[in-house]
Amino acid sequence: MTKATFDRHRRLRSSAQIRSSIRENHVRVEDLIYPIFVKEGENIKNEVASMPGVYQWSLDRLEEELQEVVRRGISSIILFGVPKEKDDVGSSAYSDEGIVQQGIRFVKERYPNLTVIADTCLCQFTDHGHCGVVHDGEILNDQSLELLTKTAVSQAQAGADIIAPSNMMDGFVAAIRKGLDEAGFVHTPIMSYAVKYASAFYGPFRDAAHSSPKSGDRKTYQMDPANRREAFREAASDVEEGADYLIVKPALSYLDIIRDVREREDLPIVAYNVSGEYSMIKAAAQNGWVNEEAIVMEKMVSMKRAGADLILTYFAKDVADYLQQGE
Ligand code: PBG
Ligand code: ZN
Repeated sequence: MTKATFDRHRRLRSSAQIRSSIRENHVRVEDLIYPIFVKEGENIKNEVASMPGVYQWSLDRLEEELQEVVRRGISSIILFGVPKEKDDVGSSAYSDEGIVQQGIRFVKERYPNLTVIADTCLCQFTDHGHCGVVHDGEILNDQSLELLTKTAVSQAQAGADIIAPSNMMDGFVAAIRKGLDEAGFVHTPIMSYAVKYASAFYGPFRDAAHSSPKSGDRKTYQMDPANRREAFREAASDVEEGADYLIVKPALSYLDIIRDVREREDLPIVAYNVSGEYSMIKAAAQNGWVNEEAIVMEKMVSMKRAGADLILTYFAKDVADYLQQGE
């Protein structure tokens, strides 16, 4: 039997104006961080096969991409490097002339107000493709910290505004914080990839960055997707070690974790909407199976609703366009 009285939820859905006036969560252009791949060499604008619309850029062509970012009012980018030479200790990750260091200088000289975040890892720069030093098939934690700290300091010296270590060694925030402080960069924030799962959603990124491990996998340092409480321990230790932002990665299959971390920690939370999440939407949209704009904006607001402050996404330029058109 129908109740005599019942809630009329539809009253507040009756017009676009009312719906908009009571909307609880919003995506803003200020929330967006756009990833850019910088590649050593000349005259390169290579589309990544598994990521339509995403390119590797050589510095002599990068201006084109930077203009597109700045024109849309996007205020932050994160740089990933694709070097020419790799070796077993990832030397080009912490060289002053490394591609990321050159990229940071290039961007900051031209766009001093654009926030440049440097991804701090070794996997793009090591011939074995792991995020740390490998010895007899093992990834050595504390030896890796030394090289990661050198990398972070050289990125700060090149002018990076924020250091974003993605390597998942234990103690990387403490080690990098100490290294930055000793080098005089007490005000350079660390955006820690605090909660990073060993995910198949990174596949397209590894094509883009040529950073697949040549043997083995990353499961001894990245997290098991089945674990929730472990995420609290990872986040708590990074807060303790001095992180300024916490990244949860991937985002869309881990919205519960974003919510959990939001409720436990007070630092700004960054949702990393990773490469595979981008590629899946792109592929479906190119087939005409989904409405790209609607799907993308629904995904964006879902990360905000889960509790993310910032969204790192390959869709950032599209989202900025949608936001502007919607106004
Ligand atoms: C490198 C790094 C990865 C990503 C960001 N930094 C790949 C990995 O850990 O294998 C993933 C980004 C993406 O998939 O968009 N440590
Ligand atoms: Zn790595």
